[in-house]
Amino acid sequence: MPAPSSLRSLPGAPVALAGPLVVSAPAALGRESRWLRRVLEAGTGWRVDVVAPSTPADVVLETDPSLRRAAGAAVEGAYRLVVADGVVRVTGDGGAGVFYGLQTLRQLLPDETLRRAPVLAAAQGSSAGRVRRRTGALRIEPVAVVDAPQFAWRGVHLDVSRHFMPKSFLFDLVDLAAFHKLNVLHLHLTDDQGWRVEIERYPRLVEVGAWRRRSPLGHARERRFDREPHGGYYTKDDLREVVAFAAERHVVVVPEIDMPGHVVAAIAAYPELGHSGRPIEVGTRWGVYRHVLNLEPSTIRFFHDVVHEVCEIFPGPYFHIGGDECPTVEWRRSERARAIMAAEGFDDPRRLQGWFSAQIAPAIASHGKRLVGWDEILEAGAPEDAVVMSWRGLEGGVTAASRGHDVVMVPEEWLYFDWSYADDPAEPLAIRGPTPVEKVYGFDPVPAGIPDDRRDRVLGAQCQLWTEYVKTPERAEYQYFPRLCAFAEAVWSQPTLTGARSYPMFEPRLSRHLRRLAALGVNYRPLEGPTPGQSRTWRRPPARGAPPR
Ligand code: ACM
Repeated sequence: MPAPSSLRSLPGAPVALAGPLVVSAPAALGRESRWLRRVLEAGTGWRVDVVAPSTPADVVLETDPSLRRAAGAAVEGAYRLVVADGVVRVTGDGGAGVFYGLQTLRQLLPDETLRRAPVLAAAQGSSAGRVRRRTGALRIEPVAVVDAPQFAWRGVHLDVSRHFMPKSFLFDLVDLAAFHKLNVLHLHLTDDQGWRVEIERYPRLVEVGAWRRRSPLGHARERRFDREPHGGYYTKDDLREVVAFAAERHVVVVPEIDMPGHVVAAIAAYPELGHSGRPIEVGTRWGVYRHVLNLEPSTIRFFHDVVHEVCEIFPGPYFHIGGDECPTVEWRRSERARAIMAAEGFDDPRRLQGWFSAQIAPAIASHGKRLVGWDEILEAGAPEDAVVMSWRGLEGGVTAASRGHDVVMVPEEWLYFDWSYADDPAEPLAIRGPTPVEKVYGFDPVPAGIPDDRRDRVLGAQCQLWTEYVKTPERAEYQYFPRLCAFAEAVWSQPTLTGARSYPMFEPRLSRHLRRLAALGVNYRPLEGPTPGQSRTWRRPPARGAPPR
């Protein structure tokens, strides 16, 4: 999971692995071999020794740059995994390919080895007398797997603004994304309801902007509120740690600083960024606010400074400027905005958003990064080499690709995992829905309307988790899993080789895969529906009478 391009059983005896396990790897695969040692030692209790290539070994890691072409792959991450003749051999097109081969190897081992401490070894080491002969040996049937990703951008997004998520969850999410061969973590770090990244030059962004007075209770449309302050933020070192942890797992972190809308938390911290000049509070309701950034040179400079500090934390090639849902009411009344419109000859105030992006773009480019934005940036006039995230449907992606932009498909109807799984009162409160696993599985990252000669503009796809209704890591896991497994297959696996995607063929494999998620400790939603602990409506059943639901 996700399905490999090809998997073939080989003749011969199973390969038995036992501790102390010897792994050979060239120095260039130090990152992958160290990671393998950590996960295997944790899950099996074996000692794992990493030795130089050509030393006899149980597991051989190697690279072969010609593999990508051989696998017919356009993007990095191809691998071949051969289990035969007493050896597990993992050949990658580079470090990423080797890493994905090793993730596949983990799925060939017993689910128990995915745990954080050994349960097999503990059972075998007990004095109960039911000990198997070859202590700790695990057998893998001979097999050859050849595999390569279909798309370069296989993303998972998390909104940490609406509800702050502890750093520990970012590590778990990266681990789970990488387990499913995803390679981008998009962090939505700022929004109306909370600013979550420390900026040294402007300390009030977190001192003030990271905290809100209260939050909605129930659905936003009920207009009820709790009385609990909420907040939190990541220090620069927290985020550097997340970036380094992700890099060890071949995951790139893309930061998003949303502008020029979705900025109430920033204006609360620095009212001079807004239009009234008066203090406002960090957002406490969900939805779109009319407050946007003013277009003064000082505000542009402020956000240049923010961009520079954020770029220093995140070494990856992308910087997301948001650009979604930006009302123009304040600009229509602003003298400065009207002067820019007149000078630039704009007849639509939405073009001011494009103007704003154009002011910010050089700061991003000066760090050698590419600008990414939500599909509204198309209407506003997107910088030429901007990457567009098509969220309001498929059309944004089609338009962007036709205009020569690179595109990441993220359409809400399929890939917004804050939507419910089912129209069922037992489901926890969600913004809307439903988006069942089956629908996600059927998602095709290349929309039908894209001209053939622009198909390669689709870098890939990404699943989103907005957190208005998601307060905890446990609930986040519920929303992601198992939809994320279906998503991973849609964005990794070649449809030509898995056949036209058939959910009835996928579901038994997914069912089997849920046991792996259970071993990993994921709070996934069972295919039949939420457990009593996950359900919104479950009540202790009467002593006699109807069964619980
Ligand atoms: C979005 O959902 N506003 C990108």
